[in-house]
Amino acid sequence: MRDRLIIGLDVPGVEEARSIVTRIGDAGTFYKIGYQLAYAGGFDFARELIGQGKKVFLDLKLHDIGNTVEEGVRSIARMGVTFLTVHAYPQTMRAAVAGKAGSGLKILAVTVLTSYDDNDLVEAGYTPMPAAELVSRRAGQARDIGIDGIVCAATEAQRVSGIIGPDRFVVTPGIRPTGSEAGDQKRVVTPGDAIRNGATHLVVARPIVKAADPRAAAEAIVREMAEA
Ligand code: C5P
Repeated sequence: MRDRLIIGLDVPGVEEARSIVTRIGDAGTFYKIGYQLAYAGGFDFARELIGQGKKVFLDLKLHDIGNTVEEGVRSIARMGVTFLTVHAYPQTMRAAVAGKAGSGLKILAVTVLTSYDDNDLVEAGYTPMPAAELVSRRAGQARDIGIDGIVCAATEAQRVSGIIGPDRFVVTPGIRPTGSEAGDQKRVVTPGDAIRNGATHLVVARPIVKAADPRAAAEAIVREMAEA
């Protein structure tokens, strides 16, 4: 169960990240590095974590012309990263699948950013379509293209899991342990409910990295996951 908890290192620099990882110790095996840390020394830190036997999820949400995505993914695959995100545009997904060939890297697709609602999609120039419908359509395309998994809200995990099937990953952020603060997350789900909804991995940042005792916080979440 411990391997199914991904701890989001949403901190400004490597020093803070290293201190959190040290405090969590063997209670944490899988770490996510996003924009904030990636562009502040996070790539070298990812190599450091991998060298210590930890797994790394690079949340870079790539999207560019096919050749650029393919070559970028090839470089990331050589680092020994476990999960990488790309936006769920068919060209981008096909390029990512080609770039990871022969490596252990798994590609996760982000269907529609959870900060986008139906109006935001229209504003961005899409033909009016409910965001939920676009999520389903892109999840189906991700499956057909051979993407390894989807990042989605825990509230959507069951539906997405039904589309992509049992052999792919369903990775869900927006998790709040029972009794903790939601922060800016609007639709929060407890660790137990996320697992019951079909999530294979949970991404949790603030409830762990901002806790007085990050190790105890991580252990409590793993316990809630195991009880589900
Ligand atoms: O602090 P918190 O647990 O809310 O952090 C969740 C992490 O998951 C953050 O790194 C955030 O960027 C990421 N994420 C998210 N919602 C998405 C995709 C990624 O919260 N739809």
